[in-house]
This record gives sequence, C-alpha cells and structure tokens, in this order.
Amino acid sequence: CGIVGYVGSGEASEFLIDGLRRLEYRGYDSAGIAVYENGKIQIEKKKGGLANLEAVLKEHPLHGHIGIGHTRWATHGKPSDVNAHPHGDCHNHFVIVHNGIIENYMTLKKELIEKGHVFKSETDTEVVAHLAEELDDGNFLSTVRKVLAKIEGSYSLVFMDDSDPDTIICTKKDNPLIIGLGKGENFIASDIPAVINRTRQIYIMNDYELAVVKKDSITFYDHDDKEITKEIHEVTWSAEAAEKGGYPHFMLKEIYEQPKAIHDTVQIYLNKDGSVNFKDLGWTEDCFDDIDHILITACGTAYHAGLVAKHYIERFVRIPVSVEIASEYRYSNPLTTSKTLCIVVSQSGETIDTLAALKEAKRLGAKSLAVTNSISSSIARESDNVIYTMAGPEIAVASTKAYTTQLVALLLLALYMGQLRKTVKPELVKEITDALKDLPKQIEKVLKENDYMAEVAERLIKAHDIFYLGRSIDYAIAMEGALKLKEVSYIHAEAYAAGELKHGTLALITEDTPVIAVATQDNVSSKMYSNIEEVRARGAEVLGIGYEDDAEIGKYTTETVRIPRVDPFIAPILSVIPMQLLAYYTSIKRGNNVDKPRNLAKSVTVE
Ligand code: G6P
Repeated sequence: CGIVGYVGSGEASEFLIDGLRRLEYRGYDSAGIAVYENGKIQIEKKKGGLANLEAVLKEHPLHGHIGIGHTRWATHGKPSDVNAHPHGDCHNHFVIVHNGIIENYMTLKKELIEKGHVFKSETDTEVVAHLAEELDDGNFLSTVRKVLAKIEGSYSLVFMDDSDPDTIICTKKDNPLIIGLGKGENFIASDIPAVINRTRQIYIMNDYELAVVKKDSITFYDHDDKEITKEIHEVTWSAEAAEKGGYPHFMLKEIYEQPKAIHDTVQIYLNKDGSVNFKDLGWTEDCFDDIDHILITACGTAYHAGLVAKHYIERFVRIPVSVEIASEYRYSNPLTTSKTLCIVVSQSGETIDTLAALKEAKRLGAKSLAVTNSISSSIARESDNVIYTMAGPEIAVASTKAYTTQLVALLLLALYMGQLRKTVKPELVKEITDALKDLPKQIEKVLKENDYMAEVAERLIKAHDIFYLGRSIDYAIAMEGALKLKEVSYIHAEAYAAGELKHGTLALITEDTPVIAVATQDNVSSKMYSNIEEVRARGAEVLGIGYEDDAEIGKYTTETVRIPRVDPFIAPILSVIPMQLLAYYTSIKRGNNVDKPRNLAKSVTVE
C-alpha cells in the first residue's frame, strides 16, 4: 500500500493526490484521502484506481491544509469503498491510514465490539481507529502511544485527530515511512517518489520511532518515548527519472534503460586494472574461512536472480549455495548456522517476506549481505552489509532493469569473493569484467529486436499456454521469462528444465503450445537442440534465443532471435531482454495495463 500525508498552508488534497499517483505502484485497488475541513475530518474513498477517487473529488472537493491519503493493495477484506482507507468515521475523532497487517486484530475487534464499537469494514486496519477512540485520553500523542502498546504486527501508521487539527502523528514497524521536510509545510509518505517534486530533504523513519508533524516542526521520539534528533537525507535522483520520459509505458522505458543501469552498476565496482572492488564491505582474504554455505533468499524476480547467482558463486567461489523462496525459508526449520552467509536480493528493499527471512537467518547466526536498489531501505538497514544496484527508480510492477542489474551485481560479487579466496584467476576476472564493460553496447544491439518481438507477440496473444525451456543457467532465465509473461499478459506460462520435459510435461506439448527455447550455454547446447526437436516433433512452434554465430540452432527452431556472442555467464543478461520485450508486447496487444497488472503490487509489504 502507499501512504501520504500533508500539513502546511497549501491545499492538502493537491499533494495527497499527486503523491498517491506516484505511489500507485504500491497498490491500486482502492484509494482515499481525509482532509480537515470546517472543524471536522472529511473522508472520500473509492474502490478502483486513483481516477475513481479523483472523479468523486471533482464532485465533492475537500479543502483544507492538513490531510492523509492511501492507495491500497488488499490483504484483509476485498477491494471496496468501505474497505478503502482512510478509516475512522463521523463518530470518531481519529482517522488513520495503514500499510501492513495488524496481526491481533481479531482479538481487539472482539473486545471493541463488546464495548459497543460498530465496525464498517472487513479490514484489520479499522480496529486501530476504534482503539484510538476507546483509549482517547484527550491528548493525541499519549492516545497514539496507548494504541501502539496494544497492537501487534507490521505497520506504517499515520493518525489525524480532529481535536488536534494542526498535527499528524506517524510511526512504523517493518514497513517503510519517510517524512519530507518543507518550508512551512511537511510531507509524509511511504516512499520517496511521492515527495521529490516538493522536497529533496527527507527523514527516514526507523521501526518504533514516532513523529509528531506540524507545519513548522517535526518532533521525533524513540521507542522509549525519548525525544531524538534525526539526520536529514538529501535525495539526489531527479523527479523526471521517476516519470515516463517519452515512452508509452514505464515497463518499456525501463527495458530501454538497461544499458545505462548496467553501465552504472558495473563502473562503481571496478578497479582500473579490471579487478572487482567492493571495498565498502570491508571483507578480507580470510573472511570466508568460516563460511561453509551461502544462502540466497528473495521473492519473485529477485529470487530468479538468486537462481542465476548460484551458478556464479559455485563456479567462482566454490562454496555450496542454496536458493530459497523467502516466504518458504522462514518456516522450513532451516539449517542456517553462524557458518552461513545469507544474501538477500530485493529491488525495493521493503519486501516483508525477504526482510523476515533475513531476520530469521540473522537470528540463527548467519552473516548477512543485501543486494538492493533502494538506499536506506529496511532490508539495507537490517543487513550487516549492502551492495547497491544502480537501476534508478523502477516503477513498472514487472521488474526488468532491476533484475538485470541484480545479475550484474551478483556476478561481480561472485568474482570479488573468488578474487579474495583465490578460487578464480585474475585473468578470468579481467576477461569477464571487460565483457561487462561492453555489455551496455551489446544490450543496445539486442534492443534492436524490439520490432521483431512485437511481431512475434502478435502470434502469441491467442495462446493459452506457453512453455519456456532452457538448461543450466538458461533454465533460470527461462523461469524469469515465463514469470514476466504471466505477470503482464495473463497467459499461462511454464518454465521447464529442457532435459526434464520428457519425464512428464512433454504430454502437454501440442501444436497449440508455443515454446520459447533459450540456448546460450555451450556445454549443453547439443542436448538443448535435441530437446527442441522433441517439442517440434509434437507440432510446437519454437522461438529460439541463441548467439548470432550459432549456425546450428536455426535448424531446429521455427524462428530464432539472436544475441551477440558473449561469455556464457553473461549471456543470461542478454537473453532475458527479448523475453522482456515479448512479455511487454503480448500484454499491450491483449489490452492489459502493462505497468500495473491486475492483482499485483510493486512492493509487497505484507507476508
Ligand atoms: C513483488 C513484485 C515482483 C517482485 C517481488 C520482489 O511481488 O510484484 O515484481 O519481484 O515483489 O520484490 P523486491 O522488491 O523484493 O525485489
């Protein structure tokens, strides 16, 4: 979910709506705002995208100088007008917006109902508004503290109280929250893009901190209610960077930003001699002597980056790697010990499943390292060490440039660890880092396949099922290709290890099942060709993805999209690009909202 708040002298609803628009990628099944107007907090909220709320506000504008807003990604209770935030009503002083889950809401709700409270929504959030009413002692701050003492779970919470109409109080636990510092006005948001066109000075809230925000002041308190001072962060990226920049959709823009994103990520971690340098990690030659296992844990696309990284790390570092889906890891009675290095991968740095897995690995004694795109995110702050990908803001729900920069960062990391452990020769490191420096150019070449992929997409739009095949690293890439297609086109796609197909799934292949076959791993290419023949023999049309100088592959496929000849470790970063384009075009040709696919959110901060 996305949260915004405003207190100042300007029109609150203007910032709230603008901020929510910039946060819509955090959820978009309903939206609402509350503004203090004529001695009362007035709420307008509506199911569906922000446009629905805007239509309501056109009819009933809300005028005032203080307000809060929310864009929702449903967890408890279906998307509907009543379940939309803000919560609180005309019998209630308090109005709130919430991101996260109140885990003990059932118990609290039962108690409150017994005391005569009448609930309107099915949400866990509404209990917070009623609880505030129940515990109201006439002092806004102390009432909020009493509420916080009662609730369990994860939250960013923003409160308004109509008996204290100059003040917003906000706090967080396991969910992001920032405060933008203005002149005579202050802004609250769950994420930086919401505020950057109003201020570049922000405070990042830590768990359990509480802020009392007025137009001319912000007072922070720690967990023990002690007043604290916090450091101001200066945001350096531009507001335009978060906009579409001439492309019809963020997803396409972000696909095209990959040369730059990769260039930026590669160049900060290289020495002049071509060796890799993550000097900020403070690692030494002997720091892996105590590590006997590397655990990579993540969700969605970041998990797929982890699957590729397993190949990288095992090859260059020679330490066994396991890759776990973050939401599974925590409940698997894991064999993590103090000899484990846990690497978490997360674009947003806020995915709660990944954060929870990281905390669990740390509890079991693991050392930790985050690979993330978000500076000062919860995951970055929770990890012992951090490596940043330099993808810039990624807005489309389906991840593209964040994924390829993750692959680059993880490959560099594997080389760096290998360098330290002397499990990889310096000449090989140089060969690969030279190739990485060249990679942006190679990506430009692959992006020229744009029109061709649009044409292929035309033929896929009627398919019910599409198979993605690959072996070795190409299998991990096939998984990402299939996920991309599913997310944005809503066509069922399945990735399969090509050699495994004959052990069951081949039964599903007919002439109506298009197949995408990735063949960039030289050590298994002849086997891959046989697997392509197997599906062709069952009538399937096959789009191959292979090197430009591979004279063989075209003999087996129906058609082939080519990538430049590169090291097989780098090939995945190229071969995924035609698949991203294919997913994009299939989606728009089917009339879908490609940047905001149904049921999905960019950053999922609930478990
Ligand atoms: C959500 C998004 C996915 C993303 C996953 C992990 O489910 O829809 O696109 O891959 O979260 O996100 P993260 O920010 O942790 O990389």
